[in-house]
Amino acid sequence: MPLDDCKIIELPRIQDPRGNLSYVESSRHIPFDIKRVYYLYDVPGGAERGSHAHKQLHQFIVAMSGSFDVVLDDGERQRRYHLNRSYHGLYVCPMMWRFLDNFSSGAVCMVLASEFYDASDYYRDREEFLVAVRDFKT
Ligand code: TYD
Repeated sequence: MPLDDCKIIELPRIQDPRGNLSYVESSRHIPFDIKRVYYLYDVPGGAERGSHAHKQLHQFIVAMSGSFDVVLDDGERQRRYHLNRSYHGLYVCPMMWRFLDNFSSGAVCMVLASEFYDASDYYRDREEFLVAVRDFKT
């Protein structure tokens, strides 16, 4: 899966003086059906999350509050995204190494995921990931 498949998606935004509203619908605004939602919060300054890749999982990452960076890496190229709007999200395709850093204080990172949690879907070892990427391409 190429790095170019991963992209920032702008969500619908209903602007209202009482407060704005955004929404995400499975397979309409993001390219997969949502089976799981998880979120990171109370992240201490300087912490790094992620540092793994997924074999099958599609994800959509939104900064619900505050900001942070997501670095995507397909084994050859890296791209850093700064997320700081609750109406923007980053689509992350399978076979993409990622880490998250630069969390602001109070940041909340919500992740919409295409599958239930499955420990066997992870590459946590970077060398193993790089071998798999090479095999994938040949
Ligand atoms: P991990 O995916 O390594 O977190 P991150 O990528 O954000 O740094 O998960 C941390 C721990 O939480 C790990 O023990 C697995 C567990 N976990 C679940 O039980 N369910 C989930 O949906 C997720 C994402 C993690």
